[in-house]
Amino acid sequence: MMHVSPSILGADFGNLRDNVMRTEASGADYLHLDVMDGLFVPSISFGMPVIEQLRAASKQVFDVHMMVQAPERYIKTIADCGADSITVHQEATIHLDRTLYDIHSCGKKAGIALNPATPVDVLDCVLDQVDMVLIMTVNPGFGGQKLIPYTLDKIRALRQKLESRGLAGRVDIEVDGGVTCANLPHILEAGANVIVAGSAIFHGDIEENTKNFLKILRAHEQECEI
Ligand code: DX5
Ligand code: ZN
Repeated sequence: MMHVSPSILGADFGNLRDNVMRTEASGADYLHLDVMDGLFVPSISFGMPVIEQLRAASKQVFDVHMMVQAPERYIKTIADCGADSITVHQEATIHLDRTLYDIHSCGKKAGIALNPATPVDVLDCVLDQVDMVLIMTVNPGFGGQKLIPYTLDKIRALRQKLESRGLAGRVDIEVDGGVTCANLPHILEAGANVIVAGSAIFHGDIEENTKNFLKILRAHEQECEI
């Protein structure tokens, strides 16, 4: 199943609830929430109170992307704030196996994010324990950057790996960074199925942008069925 996951980092923070509700009303069933600590990435974004308050306003799947050093410190709190899926960076947590276990113990889906320079092979030992792999298509930390082309090869490599290990139906491939309606067909072709977009959804007409993304996803789904 394909999903669009609007990243609220691109939203108007003065009208956050309104912006989120517009994406939901336009058919986005996921919402991407970027937590940044100013250490793993240079910037600081938002944390628990924002997630908790938005939770009351939306029924979307809350897809929390932790750009945080040692994210294991916050898993329980983030889960209690209403996350449905918690994604940690492989580069940020030393005991990845235990971190995945902790996320699942909270009853949440577990994702692992990889920076552009991290090869997908680092996941070989834990691939059957994850619900989602997030391939960063930009260096994490800021919205509005340009997609790095070689990251598409990583999506392809991961899709192949999942298929050869019989995990294709179980593990989602998410992409994040620089996604636009123009490059989306290439990303889908490479094998991603959860699509994050910040600027391309929230800058301009949110309803129209969300619907345009969904149209491309649905067209790709139909093509795959034929
Ligand atoms: C970047 C964040 C992204 C960001 C994407 O580090 O993880 O989720 O909001 O923004 P765009 O789609 O504008 O690149
Ligand atoms: Zn993100």
